[in-house]
Amino acid sequence: MSMNLVTLLYLLASICFIQALKGLSSPKSARRGNLFGMAGMLIAALTTVALIYELRRMAGGGVSGISLIAIGLVVGGTIGAVIARRVEMTKMPELVAAMHSLIGLAAVCIAIAAVSEPSAFGIAPPGDFALPLGNRLELFIGTFVGAITFSGSVIAFGKLSGKYKFRLFQGAPVVYPGQHLINLMLALAMVGFGLIFFLSQSWLPFLLMTAIAFALGVLIIIPIGGADMPVVVSMLNSYSGWAAAGIGFSLNNPMLIIAGSLVGSSGAILSYIMCRAMNRSFFNVLLGGFGATATAGAKGQQEQRPVKSGSPDDAAFLMSNAESVVIVPGYGLAVARAQHALKELTEKLTEHGINVRYAIHPVAGRMPGHMNVLLAEAEVPYDQVFEMEDINGEFGQTDVVLVLGANDVVNPAAKNDPGSPIAGMPILEAYKAKTVIVNKRSMAAGYAGLDNELFYMDKTMMVFGDAKKVVEEMVKAIE
Ligand code: TAP
Repeated sequence: MSMNLVTLLYLLASICFIQALKGLSSPKSARRGNLFGMAGMLIAALTTVALIYELRRMAGGGVSGISLIAIGLVVGGTIGAVIARRVEMTKMPELVAAMHSLIGLAAVCIAIAAVSEPSAFGIAPPGDFALPLGNRLELFIGTFVGAITFSGSVIAFGKLSGKYKFRLFQGAPVVYPGQHLINLMLALAMVGFGLIFFLSQSWLPFLLMTAIAFALGVLIIIPIGGADMPVVVSMLNSYSGWAAAGIGFSLNNPMLIIAGSLVGSSGAILSYIMCRAMNRSFFNVLLGGFGATATAGAKGQQEQRPVKSGSPDDAAFLMSNAESVVIVPGYGLAVARAQHALKELTEKLTEHGINVRYAIHPVAGRMPGHMNVLLAEAEVPYDQVFEMEDINGEFGQTDVVLVLGANDVVNPAAKNDPGSPIAGMPILEAYKAKTVIVNKRSMAAGYAGLDNELFYMDKTMMVFGDAKKVVEEMVKAIE
């Protein structure tokens, strides 16, 4: 295989990756984007295997290592496919965190292998163990970014899954005096040992730097509350991309550099978009504590005020007599898996000549695009689905808003109470509609742990129960 062909195939794979990112930017083109991503990865992996085969053959080495790579591809690919098929939508963020941890670990392993035998990676002539200065720099940066990504992602996985009793895996932030100072000192020590490795290429500073980076990954993530974890996962995703790009420079592999940079920059942009949608600064997320602190505080002071409540039949009556209905889905829709029933409800209402639209908040649910994915799964037509900035101006003229398993994203406190932990977060202005129907199971708080004034308004009717059951009953009532 000539180097020109390798370059051409890598270029093709890179174009596929760029098309994948473009496709994933809208629910309408997301499937196509995924197909591009899969095609790009297939081309990149096969080209790399063919390249390694060719290089080994030319160097007169055996090709036995290739079968090990093939076994790795088959075993890894099978595990990935089985896990991805089985995972529930609500468990997606923790799966992503688990996978990022592996990218970080892979970067560390490759760097250790490259330092111990540079010639195997074509960085130095056979028998020569001296690494060029540039490679030492790339390897030390790639290693510590990879190590932080690994241990940080493991903690993020534990916090998101909420299944483990281990203190560090709890949603509540772990805070202690002098925390940021300790982290700063460790970061300086890590970079210091990295620089000693850069100057001396000795193992001790390299291993010390790696060990500190593993510890730092844990220490950076533990003070961050569960509510901020999706932002953290996206940030770690970005780190894993940069680690891969750093290693790509060392291995002189343009594919790894391009793919790593795309992951690094898209992860950083996504983190920024999420922070903006929650009106939080990135720095503020990283210094941590929002999610669980707010939850603990607010749950304690939950008010016991009367609310108006009604049955699914009452709600169906209100909606079928309306001219326009806007549905605001939230995390509860995902928990109840009510998306198919909801689509049926929409169809019934539309058959009655009612204008039905969906309003999507950018951080509704627990991961970016969560609601879009659920609605797409139920094949809700895209022209019924509106982003927050496109629909917020319409609530004032809407007859009925159905808030389905959403809470924080429609909480007027974000606008009206400057002391609220979510103050300044843009919300869907459901409170402006003529009538509001809210479905949830109880008066319990949402993720930010806050009471919601919307539930107590005169125009609001609460319909308590699991979203799927309630929506199915609404459908029956409309029939
Ligand atoms: P939440 O504020 O978490 O509220 C969801 C509501 O759904 C809860 O109040 C819950 O009340 C209800 N619910 C749960 N299971 C239900 C079921 N089976 N049937 C009916 N209702 C059910 O959700 P949201 O409005 O979507 O807001 C998302 C929150 O997550 C925001 O605070 C956001 O900042 C945070 N967050 C999101 C992201 C991303 S990227 N999406 C990232 C970080 C943080 P009951 O228990 O009473 O039923």
